[in-house]
Amino acid sequence: MDKIVISGKRPLYGTIEVSGMKNAALPILYATILVGGKFSIENLPDVNDINLTLGIIETLGGKCVKDGACVEIDTTDIDGKVSIPVDTVKKMRASLYLLGALLGRYGYARIGYPGGCDFGVRPIDQHKKCFKTFGATVTEGDGHICVSAEQGLSGAHLFFDIVSVGATVNAILAAAKTPGVTTIENAAKEPHIVDLANFLNTCGAHISGAGTDTIKIRGEKELHGCSYDIIPDMIEAGTYMTAVAAAGGCVTIKNVIPKHLESITAKLIEAGVTVNVDDDSVEVVREPDSQLSRIMLKAIPYPGFPTDMQPQMCALLCSANGTSYITEGVWANRFRYVEELVRMGAHIVVEGKIAVIEGVSELSGAQVSAVDLRGGAAVVIAALCAKGVTVIDNISLIERGYHDIVGKLRSVGADIRKVSFPD
Ligand code: UD1
Repeated sequence: MDKIVISGKRPLYGTIEVSGMKNAALPILYATILVGGKFSIENLPDVNDINLTLGIIETLGGKCVKDGACVEIDTTDIDGKVSIPVDTVKKMRASLYLLGALLGRYGYARIGYPGGCDFGVRPIDQHKKCFKTFGATVTEGDGHICVSAEQGLSGAHLFFDIVSVGATVNAILAAAKTPGVTTIENAAKEPHIVDLANFLNTCGAHISGAGTDTIKIRGEKELHGCSYDIIPDMIEAGTYMTAVAAAGGCVTIKNVIPKHLESITAKLIEAGVTVNVDDDSVEVVREPDSQLSRIMLKAIPYPGFPTDMQPQMCALLCSANGTSYITEGVWANRFRYVEELVRMGAHIVVEGKIAVIEGVSELSGAQVSAVDLRGGAAVVIAALCAKGVTVIDNISLIERGYHDIVGKLRSVGADIRKVSFPD
């Protein structure tokens, strides 16, 4: 079994290059299934969820040839009736996008229930609402969800009850080729939604308003393949920014869109960290052993502070001066990682959706687990500033979303390595 071993208390200096954004690349890969054609996708992150998705495309009859961060995809001949093994679908949440993509192309899709990180209940009512609004029938049974529209879909006015990234993606996928005009109200505004819309527009779609809460789509039956460059990963960037803030030092994080990082940058500055913003990079500076200030933050949909950065920020605040408060405003239960930080000496109490973090002078190394993707990143950050050695298991969850996290942190001076232990 592979584990990550970190010897903490080493300040970080140098440069880290951020990869393409996993949560933008995923909907775009599923969109290639919808469009049908030949694609050249650049800046693709080499992480498990992406490789799993390329495998799904191939299972459906598509062709994928990867060369580093570039992949050539041909989805001209896709068989929408091939069933994807439930075990594969269960490995990630994004497999839900198959529903929108196949429904939009063939009027039919059937998949097992998706998996993904365990943040408590993860309903799909808004996805179902969207498909029904466009005229599809949704049936569930035998552990599968099936959507079909024998008469075809038609453009419609859709008002989401809550802001959902995944349901907004599925609505865009289902509507891009659907005749008529679709209006999506209360849409998610995340940069990855904008990237999906930009990708589809490059394929000939007519999508406007992405990045606002009203998206308009004029269905275009004939879409075509294209070349496309995925946006940089704001969560990966934010994770390394927070790692430098925790360990101390001075690191330039390159290949970022600083606008996407504003809420993270603002909170780091509030905590006493220096962040120098350039055109496509940010420099994070903190004198080793300088005192961090307590802060309060609430994780909410974009442009608010991202829930996917909440665990990493919690790890940072464990050694801030005073008591910090983090409110989770998106997920029912996203504090499972706290138990792991407590093993390292953190003083954190969770009351429902609020974590109260009483800063301690120092964390100490321990044997801990990655309980989910970002919870795993949180223990890496805690370990970088802890005294002694931390051994992290379950690291495949971290590798779902971070390309070469060990190599990138080593390159700036962290004492971190991946070690194979006998099972
Ligand atoms: C995506 C991200 C995930 C991130 C989340 C919020 C991907 C692959 N995953 O997940 O990393 O944490 O956005 O930024 O991009 N909800 C419903 N009904 C639904 C759908 C969602 O009630 O039909 C609720 C969820 O339970 C949650 C909230 O809406 O409380 C937001 O979920 P959503 O934005 O859909 O998250 P995902 O797209 O699954």
